[in-house]
Amino acid sequence: MEEKRAASVKIEDKIDSIVKRHADKRGAAIPILQDIQKELGYIPKFALYRISQLTGINSSDLFGIVTFYSQFRLKPIGEVLIQVCHGTACHLAGADEIASALCRAAGITEGETGPDGKITVEKVACLGCCSLAPVITVNGETHGRMTQEKAKELIKEIKKMPRD
Ligand code: FES
Repeated sequence: MEEKRAASVKIEDKIDSIVKRHADKRGAAIPILQDIQKELGYIPKFALYRISQLTGINSSDLFGIVTFYSQFRLKPIGEVLIQVCHGTACHLAGADEIASALCRAAGITEGETGPDGKITVEKVACLGCCSLAPVITVNGETHGRMTQEKAKELIKEIKKMPRD
């Protein structure tokens, strides 16, 4: 309980310092949200209320922004984030099948994180390397010309990895 409280206080400190960095800029909402996500991996709902208290931006406007832009997440991600490109080239090259193979092997659905918090599979727009379609990234590292077989192998390897 004490540990959880300490962790949440630390998160609040991080949010406060990010907001302060942008405090005197107009149109600060998106940069603040981007920095919080960069720092925490997602945007906790209480962050929206905290930003609102500190900046005066209405919390429902902030909620509107995070739900409108697909770049923002309201849930924590797993230790390993797999992004599956669903841009046109990757879609034509079988992105749906790759995503299904990854999710089946990981035992999760797209956009979700397993209960062990290890793997998240999410859909993204073009990753900018269409000649390698279908493309995924694993914690930011690009894997091109994916196949369902490679996807299964990848999940097997990730499951074997020791936890941090
Ligand atoms: S469409 Fe997938 S990398 Fe461009």
